[in-house]
Amino acid sequence: MHHPAVTRRRCLQAWALGAGPAWAGRGAGAAAPLTIRLSHVVAEQTPKGLALQRFARNVHAAGGGRIRVEIYADSRLYGDASEMQALQLGAVDMLAPSLSKFGPIGCPEFELFDLPFLFSQREQVHRITQGSVGRALLATLARQGLVGLGYLDNGFKHMSANRPLLAPEYFAGLRMRIQSSRVIAQQMRALGAEPVVLDFGETRRALALGVVDGTENPASNFWTQHMHEAQQDLSLTTHGWLGYAVVTHQRLWQHLQAPDRRLIEDALTEALAWGNTIAEQENRSALAAVQASGMTRVHAMDEAQRQGLRQAVQPAWDGLRTRIGPEWMARMRAALD
Ligand code: LMR
Repeated sequence: MHHPAVTRRRCLQAWALGAGPAWAGRGAGAAAPLTIRLSHVVAEQTPKGLALQRFARNVHAAGGGRIRVEIYADSRLYGDASEMQALQLGAVDMLAPSLSKFGPIGCPEFELFDLPFLFSQREQVHRITQGSVGRALLATLARQGLVGLGYLDNGFKHMSANRPLLAPEYFAGLRMRIQSSRVIAQQMRALGAEPVVLDFGETRRALALGVVDGTENPASNFWTQHMHEAQQDLSLTTHGWLGYAVVTHQRLWQHLQAPDRRLIEDALTEALAWGNTIAEQENRSALAAVQASGMTRVHAMDEAQRQGLRQAVQPAWDGLRTRIGPEWMARMRAALD
């Protein structure tokens, strides 16, 4: 078996050598075959993995097999750091990164979704993602040549480590793996921990080796990455949201015939809506599985503990306001009120 980094390098090399995207050089006829390569970093049995499989099936059915969506799950092709680059280069055609991963590519407004304790219910998230603020955020992706095709839920994140994390004092000195979001980095610093940005696909191993001490994720990712084998305590902090945007590149999108674009959009819209109906249950089942494993203690959090964490992470809000200006914060607030 090849080392994943080697495989990734080969793919980028293949592109550089002219293998090119599967759709390049297609004739103008709407009946030409088309393959869309879609890469993501989580397991198949997660809200994202399942919704994207459904998208592939929808496309297959609607296109009579002429259009194929090839899915590379679980960081098999690219990890967090390389997948955005691969999309820009045309080595893949579609991604579904978490909303936290758009800040580093020049769309810091997406870090609004990372604000700790912004949302307390999934329905509030939908007021943003299914409304005008969500649409305006997707439009900012054009700056990077990307096209935002829609949002998908995962769920609320919890904190894990080899100790309970229900109060700020327990975070002192911990090295916490985070996604590459400045809001999340500031949240961890405000709690007294040291944030360490790592690819999702490397997190479980880093936890097992003690390179990092803890992390944050919804139960579905925690369970399917076997993090329960490396973390003794999972604290149900529900302090932040993990959601996704499905994106493609303008180069591909503009190249497609209008009927194919519509077919892909419709197939995705249905799959994302379906994904949003199963995400909560997937997270509930994953949490039950963690509990049943007996390897990780699961800690509930009371309202006073929640207030303690909420107060401590205030600097993350101040930092984002300074970086993106008060207007986006106000728009988000207005949509939630
Ligand atoms: C993470 O890096 O923790 C998540 O964004 C992974 C994912 O895509 O759910």
